[in-house]
Parts: sequence; C-alpha cells; structure tokens
Amino acid sequence: MSCPLLPPCVLAGLLLACVYTALCTLDCTPRKRVPYERNHLKVFREEGISNYSSMLMREDLGVLMLGAREAIFALDINDISVAKAKVTWKVTQMKQNECTYKGKNPDTECRNYIRTLHQINESVMYVCGTNAFSPACDYIAYVGGQLKLKGRQEEGKGKCPFDPFQRSSSIMADGDLYSATILNFLGSEPAILRNSLTVLRTEFTSFWLNEPNFIHMDVIPESENNPEGDDDKLYIFFSENAVEYDFYSRLVVSRVARVCKGDRGGQRTLQRKWTSFLKASLDCPVSGDILPYVLQDVFLLRHSDWRKSIFYAAFTSQGSNEVFSAVCAYSVMDINKVFSHGKYKTPVTVEASHVKWVMYNGDLPVPRPGSCINNAARASGIRSSLDLPDKTLQFVRDHPLMDDSVKPLTGQPLLVRKGVLFTRLVVDRATALDGQPHLVMFVGTVLVAKAVNYNGEMHIIEELQLFRSPEPISVLRVSSSTGQVYAGSASGVVQIPMADCHRYSSCLDCVLARDPYCAWDLGTHRCTPSPRFTKDDELVQSLKEGDPSRCPDPVPIRAKKKTLALGNNIRLPCVLDSSLAQVQWRLATQLLIPTSGKYSIQADGLLIYNASAADTGLYTCESVERPAGRQYRRTLALPDVVPVTSPAWHRSGLVAMEVSVTMLSVLLVALLLWNWYKGHLPLRGRCRQHPRKQPRSAGHGHPAIYPLRQHATLDSTEEAQARQFLHAHSNYGNGLNTGVFKYIMDESEI
Ligand SMILES: *[C@@H]1O[C@H](CO)[C@@H](O)[C@H](O)[C@H]1NC(C)=O
Ligand SMILES: *[C@@H]1O[C@H](CO)[C@@H](O)[C@H](O)[C@H]1NC(C)=O
Ligand SMILES: *[C@@H]1O[C@H](CO)[C@@H](O)[C@H](O)[C@H]1NC(C)=O
Repeated sequence: MSCPLLPPCVLAGLLLACVYTALCTLDCTPRKRVPYERNHLKVFREEGISNYSSMLMREDLGVLMLGAREAIFALDINDISVAKAKVTWKVTQMKQNECTYKGKNPDTECRNYIRTLHQINESVMYVCGTNAFSPACDYIAYVGGQLKLKGRQEEGKGKCPFDPFQRSSSIMADGDLYSATILNFLGSEPAILRNSLTVLRTEFTSFWLNEPNFIHMDVIPESENNPEGDDDKLYIFFSENAVEYDFYSRLVVSRVARVCKGDRGGQRTLQRKWTSFLKASLDCPVSGDILPYVLQDVFLLRHSDWRKSIFYAAFTSQGSNEVFSAVCAYSVMDINKVFSHGKYKTPVTVEASHVKWVMYNGDLPVPRPGSCINNAARASGIRSSLDLPDKTLQFVRDHPLMDDSVKPLTGQPLLVRKGVLFTRLVVDRATALDGQPHLVMFVGTVLVAKAVNYNGEMHIIEELQLFRSPEPISVLRVSSSTGQVYAGSASGVVQIPMADCHRYSSCLDCVLARDPYCAWDLGTHRCTPSPRFTKDDELVQSLKEGDPSRCPDPVPIRAKKKTLALGNNIRLPCVLDSSLAQVQWRLATQLLIPTSGKYSIQADGLLIYNASAADTGLYTCESVERPAGRQYRRTLALPDVVPVTSPAWHRSGLVAMEVSVTMLSVLLVALLLWNWYKGHLPLRGRCRQHPRKQPRSAGHGHPAIYPLRQHATLDSTEEAQARQFLHAHSNYGNGLNTGVFKYIMDESEI
C-alpha cells in the first residue's frame, strides 16, 4: 500500500471504516459483571511484598510457585491464600549502591524482581531476578515443605532482563534455557538466545530485531511422527518497529519468529548465530482498522498431535484515539506453511539511501534458507547446521523476514472489545455436555473476562473484578487439573475457579449464560458444574443456541407491597442478572416509557418522580434477553404500589387502648366498690396519659428529594440502599474508557 499523504489517508480510512463496517459498534459486552465485593475469590498477598509477576505451576508438588519482588513463594495450588513456604532474595547493599550510582532509582529499579521460574527436574527449579540491574540466576528446591535457594548465583545476563519494566520470555527445553530478552544495561541489545555451553543468538542488526518487545516463546515437538525427519522448533512472539512499511511515524508490527532446536550455528557465516531464524508478521485484522494491532500476550493450547496445537494471541490497537482489543488464534501448521513454503522479503535501495523491503522473486539457494536439518538435507550430506553451504547462510542472514504474513484461523478475531486493554490471556479446553471441546478464553485487562466464540459469535460469559482498586493483570496461568485460573498483579494474586455455577440463580440464567462449565440440574434445581465425559438427562445446557426450552416454568414471583408517599420519588427495585438483557417495566399492562420525565429506568430499578395517586397499581419488571436471535422474557419483580394510609398498627393500637381502658375502668370500679363496701379507703383516682407517637411524616416538606436523612424512621438497610441508589445515580455514565466499571451492588432485593 502506498499513500503519500499518510495522516489524511489514515483519517479517511478510519472514517470510512466507521461508516461501512461495524468497527464503531464492535464491542462485546460481558453478560455478567461481578464486582469485587461479590466474587469471594481466594487471594494471596503479603505485607511488604509487591509485583507478583512470575508463576510456575507445579501440579506434581501441589504448589504454585510465585515470583515477586525479592521473594519467592510456594502456594497451595488448591488454596493460594495458604503459603506453604517462602524464601527471600534481596539485593546486596553493594549491588544496590552500584545500581543507584548508575542513575537508577534505589527504591524501585534497584531491587530484585523475580522474572524467571523454570523446572529443571522433580525437585530443583531455576530462578532469575533483575537483581538491581545486574541479573542473576540461582537454583531453588522445594523439599520437606521448605523453599531453599542454593546460593550458587549464576550470571543472569541473557536469561532475565536488566530493567524490571522490560518484557522478556524464556523456556527450559532439554536442559537448555532459551530466552528472548535484552542483553545489556542500556537496553540496546535485544536477542533471542540459547544458553547452552556454546551460546547461540540472533544477529545485532535492526532487520533481525528492531526494538522488540518480547512476549512469549514455546517449543513445538515437530520431530514427533514426522515423515520428513524435521526438527523440533521454537516459536518466539514479539512486537517490533516495522522495517517494511513506509510510514510517517514509528509503526509497530506483531511477529512470530522460529528457530530449530537442533541449530548449532554456521561454520564461517553466522558463527554462533541462529542459521534458522525466520520471522513473519502476525495478522489480526479487525474489520475496518487499517493499522496493525500490537501483540500483548500469547497462549499455546497444546494438542497431543502437535499439528493441531493452536496459539491464541491478545492484541491491542495502535494509533487511534479509541482503544480496541482483540484475540486471534493461529494454527501451528499455518505458521509452519509461511516459513516452509512462503516467499521472502528482500531489501532494495531506492533514492540513494532509502531502503524498501519487497518480495524476493529470484532463485533460492538449496537447502531452503532457514529450514531445519531434515531427511532431505541429511541425504545430501548435511548432518547439522555447521554443514550448511555459505549461500544458504548468507541468504538467511540477509532475508530473515517472510513476505507472507500469518493469518488467523478463521480469518478474523475470536473476540473484539472496545475501550479496554487486553494484557494477558489463557485458554482452557472445556468438555461440555455435548461431548465437544469448547475453548474458553480468560482474558486479563484490569479485570478478567471469561469468553467463548460459538460459530463466530463472540460471547463474554462474565467479567470479574479481582482487586478492590482495579489494577492490570501482569500474569495469568491456568491449571486444568485443579480447574483454576491464577492471576497476579502488582498487589496480589487471585485464584479463579473456572466453573462458578452458583452465580446463576435460575434455569434460564444458567442456560442463557452459555457457560460450558455449567448446566442446570433439573433434579436439584441448581446450576451445577457440568460433569465431563458423561451425558446426563437431568442436566440442561445449550451453548451454541442458548435455548432454555427444556427449563421448567419459573416459580411465580409474588407481588410485594410498596407504599407510596405523595410528592416523593419512589424507587422500585429490580436488578437484571444479565447485562445482555433489556428491562421492561409495565404498570398494569401499560409499558412505561422512560423518556417521559416521569420515570427513569436505572440499573437497579425504576425511579418514579413526584409520586401521585395515579402511580398506584401493580408494576411488572421483565428482563428480555436475545441469545442467538431468539427472545426470552422473565418476570423479575412485581411491586404492588399502594397509597399511604394511617398505619394499621396505629388503628389496632387505638382499639387495644380502648379495650384496655374499658377493662381497667371496670376493674377500678370493682375495686372501688369493694373498698367502699369494706369501708377501708377514701376515694382516690389516677389518670394515666398514654404517650402517643406522632404519626409518621410522609415527607411532605421535601417533595423532589429522595428521602434519605430527612426520614428519621428509615431503617438502616433502607438507608444504605438509598445511599447506593443515589451514588449509582450520580455516577451514571462512567464508561469503559476510564477503566472504572459500574457494578450492580446488591441483588438481594429480587
Ligand atoms: C536436579 O538437578 C540438579 C541441578 O542440575 C542436580 O544437582 C540434581 O542432582 C538433580 N536431581 C535429580 C533428582 O535429578
Ligand atoms: C511494582 O508495583 C508497583 C505498585 O505496587 C508499581 O507501581 C510498579 O510499577 C511495579 N513495578 C514493576 C517493575 O512492575
Ligand atoms: C408534583 O406533582 C404535582 C401534581 O401531581 C404538581 O402540582 C407539582 O408541581 C409536582 N412537583 C414537582 C416538583 O414536579
């Protein structure tokens, strides 16, 4: 694409996009939003410890290894609020002084942030930290319920970043640590390397890596059942500055690169460098947006047949005012095809010094540049990368970028959201009642959303607020064996059960949630975790269709009396259990229109302004939800508004008083008569005045104000509800952009 006047071109493009595509409305709303107060999740945090940013699942040991700032914990994998062991690893005073001397902040940068945690064998793990801009690694053992650092501090350069704010990635494979990180203090030498006896790394040239942000790496065992005798491969995901576009400013592109595990570098050319480093762009096309999306996180969903493994990737938009986020999935085979059969890009010099990258159409040297040593290579006498001919090596050194980009599995994103930034993502394969695997994405923003894609339809089942003051999720892990997702942030770690079915209160709610982990049990009348691998006629689940027709008729809602005070505003509570539903209010059969100024339909109920006698009657609050094009109605509340009268207790009290006064009089007369008859006493009378309660003021003095403090007789729960109501009312309109979500706080009224 060439566009000489890029800013106007981009602008026009975006405007056009908004006109003819769904970009401006492309936003997937979570069906439920669960506020912090209601999610009751297990939390781990320790006073004085922050930046929980690395995790290693040790299902075999029953612990979640957690790396934080200057501490490593072994948490109980079933209940992370229990720390089974802890070890601290602080920087020495000398290191801190050196770091401070070099101009870094002693309290933030010159500390030891644990960034790397890998398993070496059953008992020993490898751990690296930034160590005050002087990365170091050590061995750590979890034995006898205790964590012990070996104290054999090894050089951490090339394994862990210097700067705690830099992203990096690493993986342990066959005893070698592969890493993608920055190699120096200044942050100018990015590399992907293997820390074996002879270190192998990428070239320091901008067309290999151009100010990259390393996101993720993984090994795919491609030598397994491979008729071509191909090698295992390492896939590295990162974003970097583009070299291939003419652009008015820095343009960031997302990449996948790969190297062969058996690579040993070249003999003369590419000595101790990867001979198999190739990279390609990763496309996640959100309809209408022309600037490429920027990679934020990657999760590999492994399959026992490596050809069916899938990478899930989270992206965010760049360059536009409005933030968008997306998730795309890529098959290992599609990535493979680009590297094994795609065209390469080649630099051409235009206008003296300017370099443009275009498709290379010339002949390719043999073996194909960047390919691993396979049966064909071995047959021609090439046993390792050291035997590769110079022509092949020179070509791959100068042409590491593929011309083709990697396209997502279905050609489009699985999930798109507006106004939030996806930071992390994990995916779980949930086997539902239909026996099919359904892929559930847990996407971290400042919250965690649980999302699915049914036949191209995006659906966010729920979104949880994990921390009291929302903060970005910095690490997310999933454990299928415990059925939990673990999320870490600067201030703590939270454990999220994948199946949290008790949140669904009715059959309709349970089925319309379309949550593959949950089904409605017709026998116990509860939403229960759907059992894996069994089919049970008692259970109702409808994931793709969201069809609750097998649900029994709901228990009828009883009408609830509500008294009306003339001239006051009154609130009729009704809380929807789905944010995908719409609410409809009726008075008798009349649909209420909120635009009339008389009514306001709020998230937690209906507000009637300046109530009059005409506002009495039976109201109906109905939720209308439309999953997959069908419509389901449900009555949630039936407030029966009656006019205020003199309170019943008052009248009956009067009657009781009259009766007691009469009885007392009779007794008194009898007593007097008796005394008089006996001739004991002179006559003495007593008149007791009953203290009479003032009748309730109906609030006539404050017509337009919802009675909050004016009413001395409001009980405390009512007052709290009123306060909430006013609070919600004044905050109305707080959108996603601010990162502050408005939650429904109390459903107890329905
Ligand atoms: C585990 O690895 C460590 C470090 O490489 C080694 O010292 C130890 O003997 C190994 N233990 C087992 C049980 O293999
Ligand atoms: C560590 O956590 C604090 C908040 O507790 C945060 O401000 C800071 O940016 C974090 N540092 C890193 C390197 O993530
Ligand atoms: C409330 O309604 C009454 C009539 O029902 C009207 O006279 C009065 O002006 C209204 N008050 C306000 C504040 O709207």
